[in-house]
Amino acid sequence: MKIAVISDIHGNVLALEAVLADLKTEAPDLIVNLGDCVSGPLWPEETATILRDTGWQTVRGNHDRVLIETPVGKMGPTDAFAAERLSSVNLAWLKTTEPTIRITDEIFLCHGRPDNDDIYLTEKIEGPKGHMPDEDTILEAVQGIDSEIICCGHTHIPRLIRLEATGQMILNPGSVGLPSYQDDHPSRHKMEVGSPHARYAIMTKTGTTWNFLQKSLTYDWDAASDEAKKNNRPGWARSLKHGFYGPLS
Ligand SMILES: [Fe+2]
Repeated sequence: MKIAVISDIHGNVLALEAVLADLKTEAPDLIVNLGDCVSGPLWPEETATILRDTGWQTVRGNHDRVLIETPVGKMGPTDAFAAERLSSVNLAWLKTTEPTIRITDEIFLCHGRPDNDDIYLTEKIEGPKGHMPDEDTILEAVQGIDSEIICCGHTHIPRLIRLEATGQMILNPGSVGLPSYQDDHPSRHKMEVGSPHARYAIMTKTGTTWNFLQKSLTYDWDAASDEAKKNNRPGWARSLKHGFYGPLS
């Protein structure tokens, strides 16, 4: 059994196309998407059109939820850019996403924490940056989820964590389309993975054993950066080109 796990595409259709090409080689049995599909100053409508056709089981990210629930006038610029360009058919598709998905007894999918799409599971914010939380913090966050494997996104930082107390594995595949960003929740901080590659993960079960592969793909990140610059988002342009965010604003 081979499962591809993708997350946080954020409207970066060029990065998504690189992942799709790689998936042809990997030929997984199943592909799942952990959300934040289209928000960002890039290609939201084109990304949604591709995703709508895939039939992938898709979790609703915090940004997807904003697009579904919030009036455009109350959105930040990242979501508003997508909302203003998303066709009704693609918005209807976005509404079919689910807050969490249990694809088998063994595998649970969420965007942030199982109970909250806007709180990190695999990072803890202290000061202007994140770091890996201690095991007790993660155990508390996944309380009530007995799946052997929990897949989450939201942080854009790839991680694989094994909880010693339960043997559960937490997989965060990182972000397909946005390698670093600044955010104000819960306090102003930045996340940066340090290179501009498109990330996703493959998990493979052989017998009773799972193995995990974190992938980092080269794509035309200069073109993605140019598109963000054209759409007046210099922070995104810098992030897409380098994988570092730069100074907090
Ligand atoms: Fe995201």
